[in-house]
Amino acid sequence: MEDSLQISSSSIISLIALVVCIFVYYLWRPVTNGTKSCTVPQADTINKATCLNIIAGSDSIAVAITWALCLIVNNTHVLKKAQDELDIHIGKHRKVKESDMKNLVYLQAIVKESLRLYPVNGLISLLAAIEDCTLSTGYYVPAGTHLMVNIWKIHRDERLWPEPDEFQPERFLGGHKDVDVKGQNFELLPFGSGRRSCPGMALSLQVLHLTLAALLHSFEIATPSNEPVDMTESIGLTHMKATPLEVLLIPRLNSKHYEN
Ligand code: HEM
Repeated sequence: MEDSLQISSSSIISLIALVVCIFVYYLWRPVTNGTKSCTVPQADTINKATCLNIIAGSDSIAVAITWALCLIVNNTHVLKKAQDELDIHIGKHRKVKESDMKNLVYLQAIVKESLRLYPVNGLISLLAAIEDCTLSTGYYVPAGTHLMVNIWKIHRDERLWPEPDEFQPERFLGGHKDVDVKGQNFELLPFGSGRRSCPGMALSLQVLHLTLAALLHSFEIATPSNEPVDMTESIGLTHMKATPLEVLLIPRLNSKHYEN
């Protein structure tokens, strides 16, 4: 296996951490408008945004990519379908580009299905209700109540999702094709909903799609022992995989595409 190379989830996390650091650096550098540097309220806003981004954004994408890879490696028919789609739309003579993403509908379905089964944050918070209300389920919520919503449970509710524990990206090309992750469909809320939903959603989706597309297009992926990946989750602010993911990558394109 001369051409193969092994990566672990820690290298993916390091890469993502680097991207977040660059992002944070650009947020924190002195802001000037012509001659004056930034005012105190702007500085406060930047500090708050930076801290929130570090806390909320630093490992989320790495966690999401790791789970998506685990699911793909454990479901080789999905890997094959994703690679067929990449070969049809991109071919094997060039690299994936950001403008290709709109054509990769199966890959987009994989990302949605992966965020459904393994939302990075299983619990989201909704801010205090402004006025008394009664939910469709009959629960009375007095004004001022803070709600914690268990989206992990909603994402696996069999009344909403047939065979809820199965990894079936195809559901987003059929019965659930109009369901997206942007907070308007309450059965799928990996980024939350409303005014306090995730501000990093657009960035995350772009990075998730592009990273997965580039990886699946460039490499055959398998576990070193060909055993299924252990899917145990750890407990924490984000639901990281309990054990590191180790995969074997084998180049599937001409060697010139791996230069630089
Ligand atoms: C796959 C990646 C990500 C997922 C699944 C995710 C998910 C979430 C969720 C569920 C919330 C809470 C929403 C709520 O409680 O209603 C949140 C909040 C937040 N996220 Fe993300 N996130 C991701 C990536 C990022 C990134 C990359 C950044 C920044 C660069 C980021 C910045 C934030 C911030 C600042 C908040 C707090 C917003 C507020 O309280 O107003 N997230 N995210």
